[in-house]
Amino acid sequence: MKNESKLRLVFDAATTAKSAVERPYVSGSRLLDEILDQGVMLGDAGELLVRLPRQSVDLFFTSPPYADARAYSRVHPDRYVDWFLPFARAMYNAVKPTGSLILNIKNRVANRGPLRGQRHPYVYQLVLALQYMGWRWVETYIWAKPNAVPGRFGPRTKDSFEYVYHFARTAKPYFDLAALRIPYKADSAEIERRKRDTNGRRNTGAGFGRDRTKTYLLGGADPGNVVNVPQTYNQHYGVEHTAAMPEGLAEFFIKATSPMDGVVLDPFAGSATTVVVARRLGRRSGGIEIHEKFALDARRRIAANIASDTQGRLFGAAAG
Ligand SMILES: C[S@@+](CC[C@H](N)C(=O)[O-])C[C@H]1O[C@@H](n2cnc3c(N)ncnc32)[C@H](O)[C@@H]1O
Repeated sequence: MKNESKLRLVFDAATTAKSAVERPYVSGSRLLDEILDQGVMLGDAGELLVRLPRQSVDLFFTSPPYADARAYSRVHPDRYVDWFLPFARAMYNAVKPTGSLILNIKNRVANRGPLRGQRHPYVYQLVLALQYMGWRWVETYIWAKPNAVPGRFGPRTKDSFEYVYHFARTAKPYFDLAALRIPYKADSAEIERRKRDTNGRRNTGAGFGRDRTKTYLLGGADPGNVVNVPQTYNQHYGVEHTAAMPEGLAEFFIKATSPMDGVVLDPFAGSATTVVVARRLGRRSGGIEIHEKFALDARRRIAANIASDTQGRLFGAAAG
């Protein structure tokens, strides 16, 4: 099947199916346990998220279907916000006070209507709507893709980044910057010299300055909010999902915004990148996927990862 037809299948299923499976009513906490047990539950996130217990999830990390009127989806960008808000409301109710929603999304060029040929504002409209709903807009990250596919995009370059928005329930979300730190660029001799420097304040001509004496005691540099991760093109084990995200992207956000043993859910699980990475990092994780083939493939991927990983590392203490 050509990629485009596959995608159409996915997103048609996503937007037209009421429920992929008939299941008897189960209590919220049992449902959460089942999702965590199964790895990826086959079903409609719209129906399942509302049944999760309140304040039970540490992190929703997800990449929902992007708006696309013709090729991939029936969610037209003009209707995207209305389509997404019920999911956002359900996640808001289910997240813990220290919890977060991390949303990977990309805007698009409108292919019809009065905005034809321009960037459609649906991503920005969605961000504002979520903020209005009560989600605190903590940060905007840029996922920079050094290997983005070239093509013909009209009067613009190829798309080589996507957005990743961090929303939180309260003013004090869990955030572990230490888990993200990267090696300093300065060489070790320079680092040692600066650690001993008791007068590290440097001022610019414009009057800005900062004390650098403590910078090198932190064990690594702050990576900043541009996250460079190459896009993966179906390189995951046995995964045919056409929109699978790279594990490195999931790793960055899961490490920073969920605690060890915390509950990490992906309501648009696709090939289960979130679940595989979160479990590897010692979190309890599961997802929801509306498309049966993807859900089954995702479960196989999770099982394969468990089988091929060192015992204890997946569910025990892992690098945070
Ligand atoms: C962009 S893909 C996610 C890819 C995923 N991050 C990965 O790495 O494989 C979005 C997924 O959401 C699924 N989906 C769409 N609507 C859904 C719904 N209402 N409930 C559950 N899954 C849905 C689609 O079938 C698709 O697999």
